[in-house]
Amino acid sequence: MQCFARRLFRAASAVITTNAIATEELVSGAKSATATTASAMAAVTTAESAGAAVNARKRGPIPPRGVDYRGKVVLAPMVRSGELPMRLLSLHYGADLVWGPETVDRSMIGTTRRINPHTNMIEYSRMPTNVVPHVTKESIIYRIDPVREAGKLVFQIGTADPDLAVQAAKIFAADVYGIDVNAGCPKPFSTHGGMGAALLRTPDKLVAILEALVREISPVFGIGISVKIRLLETAADTEALVRRLVATGITGLTVHCRTTPMRPREAAIRGQLKMIREVCHEAGVACVMNGDVESRDHAAVLMEEYGTDGAMIATSAEKNPSCFRTAQDGGLENWKEVVKHYLKFAMEVGNKVGNTKYSLGMLIEGKAPEMRLLSPPKCYTDLIKALGYADTVVDEGITMLEMARKTDQILEVGEFAPPPMPKAKKGKQQQNQNGTQVQGQKRKRTPSPGANAKVAAMKSGDKEAISEALRQAEETTAAAIPPAAATAAV
Ligand SMILES: Cc1cc2nc3c(=O)[nH]c(=O)nc-3n(C[C@H](O)[C@H](O)[C@H](O)COP(=O)(O)O)c2cc1C
Repeated sequence: MQCFARRLFRAASAVITTNAIATEELVSGAKSATATTASAMAAVTTAESAGAAVNARKRGPIPPRGVDYRGKVVLAPMVRSGELPMRLLSLHYGADLVWGPETVDRSMIGTTRRINPHTNMIEYSRMPTNVVPHVTKESIIYRIDPVREAGKLVFQIGTADPDLAVQAAKIFAADVYGIDVNAGCPKPFSTHGGMGAALLRTPDKLVAILEALVREISPVFGIGISVKIRLLETAADTEALVRRLVATGITGLTVHCRTTPMRPREAAIRGQLKMIREVCHEAGVACVMNGDVESRDHAAVLMEEYGTDGAMIATSAEKNPSCFRTAQDGGLENWKEVVKHYLKFAMEVGNKVGNTKYSLGMLIEGKAPEMRLLSPPKCYTDLIKALGYADTVVDEGITMLEMARKTDQILEVGEFAPPPMPKAKKGKQQQNQNGTQVQGQKRKRTPSPGANAKVAAMKSGDKEAISEALRQAEETTAAAIPPAAATAAV
């Protein structure tokens, strides 16, 4: 970790002093397989021995580069909250595996894979739909830490089509250690495309997707396929579905112990869990439980009680990823310390300031006055100053403020932001992706009701209100993004 920060510091220093533009490494996804295989194999060996200790029942073979879910307490897939810095923070506090946020198949198709020369992260990016020549930058759709996530990252795909799922998976499969199909998202923008929880009502399609990935991806890339489902209305319906799913060749099944109509605040139902675990185990498939798991220690109790192989944590980890640390190792850490680590990871990987602020909104405790300070900063320098971490020393005597300045330079934000385009010119130059000019078009900037609610919540400093407003804004944004570019939610 120290080396990493040092690397970032050196790389950024070089940028500041010479203003050199480093050449980006551009390689195909498949070429990275050899580079990542060695570390993945090491992680698999560790996983196998841990799994063997907790499980003497029938078990399917673990693909050579794939993860073993047995004995694992893992970070759940979470749109927005599951971006790279939160995954690294969860690993830092002891998460065994991390799921990335659900990402729609079409949004990965057409991306370019690069190693960011400043951060050494793998980035999949593409141009947004509307581009302003020489101004619009590529959007990063997915970011991976090839070192710290080696052997631990599961990519969750949003899909409703076996061919698209395979086409997308071929792009990123060499960089990840498992692919999970989301069959549990109840939000309309996911279900209306037939993805997420809609797949629970079209089991033939879900089975076809899983079979296609097992057939086309597992043998080539050496990783397993898994699925994340919700409960159906009756135990008999759930059992019938699970029986079909475990016969597709998947290696893992996660069950979110709520039905599709249930809201997140309703308590998870665990009555069907033992039956689901039994069906999985008969087929040699690992069963991971999800829903109201609060910490690693809590997970251990629940895994013992219900006999599941693993446990997955979402909301508790979103609030404080040190929930992955056992009480024996110190338990929950004070949020100020957690935020310090989070900021360091966010800067190291060049996370977008907006996403960093979103996650800070989750991590900062209750009604702490710091919540009010999150809204104005548009760059790391201002954020670090506002939160009072400027003089905090990170690795090798570098202060947070120095790190923030260098990150701002890499991201071209704050004092390093390019000068804004004159408005009329910007309108004239705007064009959509197929090159058609949108002459003289003026973008009217009317704040949405969601944005107003967000600002009001930020000002109030009420954490619940802020979380709710941010989530609603996220839903509005995700719903507005055309399916081709969407990273889905929940
Ligand atoms: C902010 C947020 C984003 C989520 N995004 C996803 C997602 O991308 N894919 C998914 O399968 N579930 C998603 N979920 C659901 C969680 O993975 C998990 O199933 C659910 O929150 C229940 O776990 P918990 O009781 O520990 O919160 C999301 C949940 C939250 C809170």
